[in-house]
Amino acid sequence: MIEASSPGKMILFGEHAVVYGQPAIAAPLLGLRARARIEALEAGPTAGIWVKAPGVGHNGWLHEIDAGDLTAQALRRSLELLDRIDFPPFRLEIQADIPPASGLGSSAATSVAILRVMAKHFELEVSDQTISSHAYELEKIHHGTPSGIDNTVVSLAKPIYFRKESPPQTLEIPGSVRIVIADSGVPSPTGRAVSQVRHSWEGERDRFEGLFKRVGAVVDRARRALEGDELPALGELMDQNQALLAEIGVSSPDLERLIAAAKAAGARGAKLSGAGLGGNVIALAEEHTRNPIERGFRQAGARWTLQTEVRS
Ligand code: PMV
Repeated sequence: MIEASSPGKMILFGEHAVVYGQPAIAAPLLGLRARARIEALEAGPTAGIWVKAPGVGHNGWLHEIDAGDLTAQALRRSLELLDRIDFPPFRLEIQADIPPASGLGSSAATSVAILRVMAKHFELEVSDQTISSHAYELEKIHHGTPSGIDNTVVSLAKPIYFRKESPPQTLEIPGSVRIVIADSGVPSPTGRAVSQVRHSWEGERDRFEGLFKRVGAVVDRARRALEGDELPALGELMDQNQALLAEIGVSSPDLERLIAAAKAAGARGAKLSGAGLGGNVIALAEEHTRNPIERGFRQAGARWTLQTEVRS
């Protein structure tokens, strides 16, 4: 049995604007992982892959899964990217403890885990960079026009400063930054929010370009605050980023309620994380506020919460 895994991720600053060329900051969510396992099979067709993926309801041969199914498409594309056509049959098991469609990187982490386990199984030497660019191809199947931040942060498994079409920069964070995450329970497929923003941008280019630039400026200041361990500044920048996301049109009453609850419980800042419209919010916490913030989130209706930290 061969295994590989990948962490989930959270976007700390800059979602959406990153699709339009602005920088963004993301960090791995080391406590939540997607895992893939491969076991050779004694019997089965050449190039047969028995797919066991309970999260998406699969337990059968890949070639028998409907061609339109996204998991099947991603697996076929993985074989193309790794240049494998004929091989003895194997069983592939995919499992993720990252909630799907909630902005925590479940699709990118699953793609990376699958590519890594296949590369190991086929005895291919594949760098993190190549895994990330292959995972980007798989992300296109799921999301259409991804910026590339998700596949990059989960492949490198380090906090990154990211700008589309530039090499990612890993961040040196001196302390540890405590974050509490809350899931609104409202599913948020990335593609829907991204295309809503695209429509708005097409209708009001100047205004939206202006908003994206302001997000970019917040991201650059947040990078300095993170690298300088300046928590108060970091919290204010989260609030500023959230205000801009609301203007971009991806916040929602559910998300605002969670954010207000976190602030009332002592968070230094809070914002949505990921595509928005639903999904998750993140709050900047400290040792003495992390439990009150988590309780506040739950009282405000969060379906799920998690305490985590960002460190390099
Ligand atoms: O996958 P999510 O929901 O975390 O969203 C990714 C962030 C976006 O900026 C909205 C899209 C992208 O491709 O960068």
